Amino acid sequence: MWHLNLSIDGDARETLSAQLRNALRGRITDGTLRPGTRVPSTRQLATDLGVSRTVVVEAYEQLCAEGYLTSQRGSGTSVADSARAGVASALTADEAPAPEVWDLRAGGTDVSTFPRQDWIRCVGAVLRSAGPRELGYAPPSGLPPVRRTLAGYLGRVRGVRVRPEHLMITSGFAQGLALLCRVLRDQGHEAIGVEDPGHPGEWAFIADAGLRPVSVPVDREGIRVDELAATGVRAVLTTPASQFPTGAPLSRRRREQLLDWARAVDGYVVEDDFDAAFVAPAQRMPALQSVAPDRVVYAGSASKVLAPALRLGWLAAPTGLAASIERVRAGWDIGCSGLDQLAFARLVDTGAFDRHLRRLRAEFQRRGQAVRQHVARHLPGVAPLDASGGLQTYLVLPRWCAEESMVAAARRRSVLVRGGRFYALRADDRPPALVIGYAGVRGAELGRGLAGVAAAYRDVTARHATGVNARRVADSDRRTGLTA
Ligand SMILES: Cc1ncc(COP(=O)(O)O)c(C=O)c1O
Repeated sequence: MWHLNLSIDGDARETLSAQLRNALRGRITDGTLRPGTRVPSTRQLATDLGVSRTVVVEAYEQLCAEGYLTSQRGSGTSVADSARAGVASALTADEAPAPEVWDLRAGGTDVSTFPRQDWIRCVGAVLRSAGPRELGYAPPSGLPPVRRTLAGYLGRVRGVRVRPEHLMITSGFAQGLALLCRVLRDQGHEAIGVEDPGHPGEWAFIADAGLRPVSVPVDREGIRVDELAATGVRAVLTTPASQFPTGAPLSRRRREQLLDWARAVDGYVVEDDFDAAFVAPAQRMPALQSVAPDRVVYAGSASKVLAPALRLGWLAAPTGLAASIERVRAGWDIGCSGLDQLAFARLVDTGAFDRHLRRLRAEFQRRGQAVRQHVARHLPGVAPLDASGGLQTYLVLPRWCAEESMVAAARRRSVLVRGGRFYALRADDRPPALVIGYAGVRGAELGRGLAGVAAAYRDVTARHATGVNARRVADSDRRTGLTA
């Protein structure tokens, strides 16, 4: 049953058993065969190699005696755990059990909520009915029935206006962005505006695709369109539903300004709608694309609403870009997993996706509220920005509180969290900030993480107070002539 790729030479001077022993020992010591790996039964390996069973038995016995293999009645023979102590120590640094930490860095989602049973049912139904077409190569831009379902869904929940044949299924938002940048560059764009603060990972993608990300500041109404116009770019990447990471929804006034700008420069607005599902109903507006499908490239993702592991996203581009994007995509890969696409479409068609999202939205809203209440009670002087819901809270710290000190103090309390500077493209004098991601931890762990943040804030406050007192004493000593 277990296959092992080995060959031995019937004409060599060494005996067959010695060759086999040396070959196996070599694979174990160089790390190709890892501890715990099952090796074939003596009968199976003898058949595979075309040698007598005694040759293999002899080799296995010797390697067991040397401690390279272990053999247990009923569970066969495997590479011993202790076989490569030297090699193992080099390999296992990242496999060691992690100490307990509370990860409040934004960017995650709570994959423990993944609707496993619904997904299993959908995958099962898809597999039972899949014929040669479903198991063969899908069109690179996505399977037609999946595009129909998704176009219907996006129209229903986000007002997106797209014909199914113009909606591309991508390997996550990241692939859509990379494709788009490549096409913009081919069309003569050299730079693209990005919200600042924003997502550093996206800036890296943009730069890799040959475009220069240009900082455009945001405020409580979202992206500053006057500043955008001053940059001279003709395309901009935005998060209108809930600005990442401040959480500010793009105001009505700014939405109009942004679209006017795009028309004036004959350019494009890229709408990253990845977390719109979590925006509080009172603040939720239809996608920007719904009012200007000729100027807005709409992009979404299953990463936050289901799990990043699916690598599923979607892109609806204006006609001026769509054909070029399709052409580039067809040369990059031959589409993403058709079976996953079909399972996802089934999840949507059966209503299980809407049910899951309703639960998840309520859970994230509870967590957002818990963060704000905790801050109000335990972090005096810290102000959360008014947010639309989303997946993280942007906390403005008092000016005296250096964000690096807060991040370091939190780390000492086993809490991972990022300061506002992490999300800034351009250095400026904006107030120090802390971004608390609450989507990536389970609800019960959030409280422990927040308690760590409050303790870290007390540590930093106490150090600050000691410093202030010391300065006061020194000043008064100087005034009274006690020190030189
Ligand atoms: C701002 C932003 N957009 C989009 C995404 C989704 O990206 P993807 O679909 O490639 O996982 C993320 C994920 O962290 C994100 O932070």
